[in-house]
Amino acid sequence: MTLSRDELARIQRLRERFLDDEHDGLAVPDYWRDDRDLAAYDKTLAARIGWKWDAALAECRDRGLPRADDKVVLDYGCGSGIAARRFVAAFGAREVRCFDRSRPATAYACKQLKALPQAPFVVPLRDVADERPDVLLVSHVLGELDEAGERQLRALIDRSACVLLVEPGNRRVARKLSTLRDALLATFTAVAPCPHQGPCPALASGDDWCHFFAPPPPEVFTDSDQVKTWKALGIDARALPYSFVCLVRTAVAPAAAPEVATVGNRLLGRPDPRPHTLRAQVCRSSGLAHVELQKRDHGELWRTAKKRPESVRSLPLP
Ligand SMILES: C[S@@+](CC[C@H](N)C(=O)[O-])C[C@H]1O[C@@H](n2cnc3c(N)ncnc32)[C@H](O)[C@@H]1O
Repeated sequence: MTLSRDELARIQRLRERFLDDEHDGLAVPDYWRDDRDLAAYDKTLAARIGWKWDAALAECRDRGLPRADDKVVLDYGCGSGIAARRFVAAFGAREVRCFDRSRPATAYACKQLKALPQAPFVVPLRDVADERPDVLLVSHVLGELDEAGERQLRALIDRSACVLLVEPGNRRVARKLSTLRDALLATFTAVAPCPHQGPCPALASGDDWCHFFAPPPPEVFTDSDQVKTWKALGIDARALPYSFVCLVRTAVAPAAAPEVATVGNRLLGRPDPRPHTLRAQVCRSSGLAHVELQKRDHGELWRTAKKRPESVRSLPLP
């Protein structure tokens, strides 16, 4: 992956829009100017988001979320359409409907989906008022919505059978996502990542937020062009913090996977292997807890946490 000067400038401009945290509660003005903005985004920032989706989707699969080969999937705020593409690769889809307030983005996302091998039927949407998707995807959108956008999304969620939201791993958006999750529990069951159906304990204190790290792909370390490109963008591609939730209407929710029933905890952030101990923060139905395991009792887990910290999802706790 190498970027031209033009692509680099486009990404820098977009990042300034995304990173601007001053807009909470106000709509972020439309920033897509043309297909070249979307193509530069798709090569870089969307690729990072795709790695986060891969991690979230793997966890959903392990928690029993079934395939979606016969389902209608809607990607809300689709941008270049990375969420739908990752979902289709992992779970399949009969039809994908793309919606973004930006028409160039909707068209770009549809074009990319149609180019997939074994592409699903693809439909660009101008409005979501009458939509009732089987699976609703929302990716890195929550932080950009004003009140009207939030109302529109909430109404769409209320007409969806399954909702998957993948958002940045920062405190502000992750807490927003947990608040939405709690509000939806009246009619939905949390399939992943939650190890329980109680209120989100990360909201109990202002200091916590539910977030994880996705494993970066090897080329981030080994491909010198990539290393240079991420450096030029000022992005640490090895750290992929994200928050996510997968909710399914309670009437059709899959039975809890055995892993969840027996383990009953979900590690937040990354585990911290010290010389003799393994420290981590975990979520349980009783609340969040900082726990410490002895390396001598959990040698293999300690080594995994050291080598591949993002792969450790839960701890063997009493
Ligand atoms: C950060 S981008 C994420 C794009 C894509 N979902 C992804 O994960 O790469 C946020 C997207 O949300 C769209 N968006 C923002 N507000 C929206 C709204 N009220 N309705 C529909 N789309 C919206 C933007 O146009 C943009 O494409």
